[in-house]
Amino acid sequence: QQQTSESLYVINNFAQKFFTTALFETDEGTDIALSYLKERGFREDIIKKFQLGYNPEAGDAFAKAATSAQYNQELLQKSGLVVLREERLRDNYRGRIIFPIHNQSGKVLGFGARLIKKNDKAPKYINTPENEIYVKSKLLYGSYFARMAIDKADECLLVEGYTDVVSLHQAGIENVVASGGTSLTPDQLRLIKKYTNNLTIIYDGDGAGVKAAMRGLDLALEEGLNVRLVLIPDNEDPDSYVNKIGAAAFNEFIANNKKDFVIFQLGQSLVEAGNDSVKKAAIVNRMAETISKITKTEHFTKRQDYVKQVAALLKIEEAGLNDLVNKFIR
Ligand code: CTP
Ligand code: MN
Ligand code: MN
Ligand code: MN
Ligand code: MN
Repeated sequence: QQQTSESLYVINNFAQKFFTTALFETDEGTDIALSYLKERGFREDIIKKFQLGYNPEAGDAFAKAATSAQYNQELLQKSGLVVLREERLRDNYRGRIIFPIHNQSGKVLGFGARLIKKNDKAPKYINTPENEIYVKSKLLYGSYFARMAIDKADECLLVEGYTDVVSLHQAGIENVVASGGTSLTPDQLRLIKKYTNNLTIIYDGDGAGVKAAMRGLDLALEEGLNVRLVLIPDNEDPDSYVNKIGAAAFNEFIANNKKDFVIFQLGQSLVEAGNDSVKKAAIVNRMAETISKITKTEHFTKRQDYVKQVAALLKIEEAGLNDLVNKFIR
């Protein structure tokens, strides 16, 4: 187990260097991959900082390099970097931009790989399969680069994707990590909680993003986090939006658009319910349940504060809401 983990780190380190070299020092890399990244607005210093790379199109460029460097074939497969096809090792990420995923000390746990030319046959991203060191539910992309900035700001911004993290860094916003898609796990929230109590979710401006953020809310409250939300305009994500409006305007947008998530959720539900009294009753229940997730004694004041605000917005008695909240706690 320990031996396997160590070997996987070594293989990933070798692969990261191979992919970076392929990106910067081969014609195919600069013509196809580096130019793609630059067209998207990524600067070279940022590409280097995040150790982005490129896996060439040729079916086995990396596999060949790794086997001639004597890496064990089974471990290579376990790393997800190669797959066995017709009894030959093939590159799993061919033709893709490579995003190394680092742990707290900067070692590479695995990779996210984005297709440069999107097509219908292959998924846009593929990621390292679960193995001894890559456990998706327990990691946050970008945490290695964000740690100090999170400490300093006493706040962690959470986005969906790799490109969002990289683009925000480029815009000078460094206290940012990605959940790698939309599902947020208790382990990821616990990780954030180790750094700060203040979480700001900035998911994509589409239905899926908002829904996913909603799902994360109760979990985050259970962890004792203060959760805020920034809604990115329709059909944009943090990466596309910062590229559209520029770093200064984006910074200002974020600063001015943080909403308390609990109150936001209530507002959202009220709009959906309209005049439907059955739906309204359900909202009261739902909000009581959400507030009940704040169970830690040191957050008692915060819970009372929510009861007050939510009762006022729902035009119901504070005491009644409080009773309901307490029912959920037991
Ligand atoms: N993701 C994934 N597998 C997919 C799609 C998405 O793992 N098939 C994860 C990736 O971590 C991705 C994140 O979910 O970065 C957000 O997905 P999406 O918004 O679709 O991609 P973007 O990060 O916006 O990437 P791009 O801008 O390059 O399209
Ligand atoms: Mn999305
Ligand atoms: Mn998407
Ligand atoms: Mn995007
Ligand atoms: Mn996106």
